[in-house]
Amino acid sequence: KPIFILNGPNLNLLGKRQPEIYGRDTLEDVERNCAAAAADHGLSIRLFQSNHEGVIIDTIHQARDEASGIIINPGAFTHTSVAILDALNAFDGPVLECHISNVHKREAFRHHSYVSGRADGVIAGFGVQGYVLCVLRMATLLRAA
Ligand code: DQA
Repeated sequence: KPIFILNGPNLNLLGKRQPEIYGRDTLEDVERNCAAAAADHGLSIRLFQSNHEGVIIDTIHQARDEASGIIINPGAFTHTSVAILDALNAFDGPVLECHISNVHKREAFRHHSYVSGRADGVIAGFGVQGYVLCVLRMATLLRAA
């Protein structure tokens, strides 16, 4: 089963919005780099992006049957969404939380994450490289499973 890589609001603009914070790589670049890293470990990925909380929750439900693990960058929903936390708690496989920026260096409202209450690991501040590092970690976790 593929690894689902879920991206929340505004990440469709990756590469264009606030490049001083999020860099110039796009979500297509992320997808290509993650697919290559996964293939090195005999794994595959499916990358999703939605600006809508309910769609993200539906995709997490879909992952219950269709994904081996979840890598999620919930965007601003990180800091607001009990509903995404609840959905992730209904998923049995490994969950990794990825933030492009170092949220702890930023505004106080970005310091708390609901999703971290479920995540098996969290990465922040490694730029888009964080997604690839999550894929490598996921390969380790899935091998151990
Ligand atoms: C983000 C950090 C969030 O605080 C922000 O709302 C985002 C992106 C990151 O990847 O650094 O949209 O999750």
